Amino acid sequence: MKKKENIGIFDSGIGGVTVLKEIIKVLPNENYIYYSDSKNNPYGDKTDKEILEICDNIVQMLLNQNCKAIVIACNTASAKAVSFLREKYPEIPFIAIEPAYKMVHDYSYEKPTLVMATKGTIESEKFNLLYHKYDNHKTELLECVGLADIIEAGDNNKIEEYLQNTLGKHKGKIENVVLGCTHYPLVQKEIKKVLGENIKFFNGAPNLAIHLKDVLAKNNLLGNNNGKIYFIDSQGLPSKERRFFDILFK
Ligand code: DGL
Repeated sequence: MKKKENIGIFDSGIGGVTVLKEIIKVLPNENYIYYSDSKNNPYGDKTDKEILEICDNIVQMLLNQNCKAIVIACNTASAKAVSFLREKYPEIPFIAIEPAYKMVHDYSYEKPTLVMATKGTIESEKFNLLYHKYDNHKTELLECVGLADIIEAGDNNKIEEYLQNTLGKHKGKIENVVLGCTHYPLVQKEIKKVLGENIKFFNGAPNLAIHLKDVLAKNNLLGNNNGKIYFIDSQGLPSKERRFFDILFK
């Protein structure tokens, strides 16, 4: 049997590139297969059953591509599917992103906080457990319906208009922003433009990267490869691939 050498990583589109960017800083000698499921984007408004089916199919495909570990680079998919996947594939380590709300508790507890995430993430049981455990009692949860979608499409005017309409009323009232969807770090600059320069962002990706390295080390799975990154889009769109690599190496 061929040795398992790849790390599989997936999202509902190219948003997970913000996670891979952090991972390759910590693990440059691994090979990666990134699956951008643009055909099913957005995940945020799908039912639990739909998400489970979609994620299960992606995982099976990645396992057929010799993946030794899988990173779920989508908060929505993590919130809804990681327990199911861990149970179904106990031999594979799953590393799953989640909104970095604990970091607010640990580093910026006193400050008014906005958690931006999809409807699916905010309504999920997994996120609610996290939220109630670390609640700073100064937090607003904001379901950003449709935002991942317009970031995925890359239309800057629409992004600015959306953020102005949804965040405008929070200007001057918020100091911490939890980026609870892997697409949102791509619009940090635009969020600051609306909320103000002093906003502090919380993103789970850097800690996920460190955790992934620990998990690989513990399981004796660390690789010594040449850092190849193989991109697959579920619609086969070349424009996605170009944008993905532009962001990754920017
Ligand atoms: N990047 C996904 C997340 O982190 C976007 C979800 C969606 O497709 O709605 O939640």
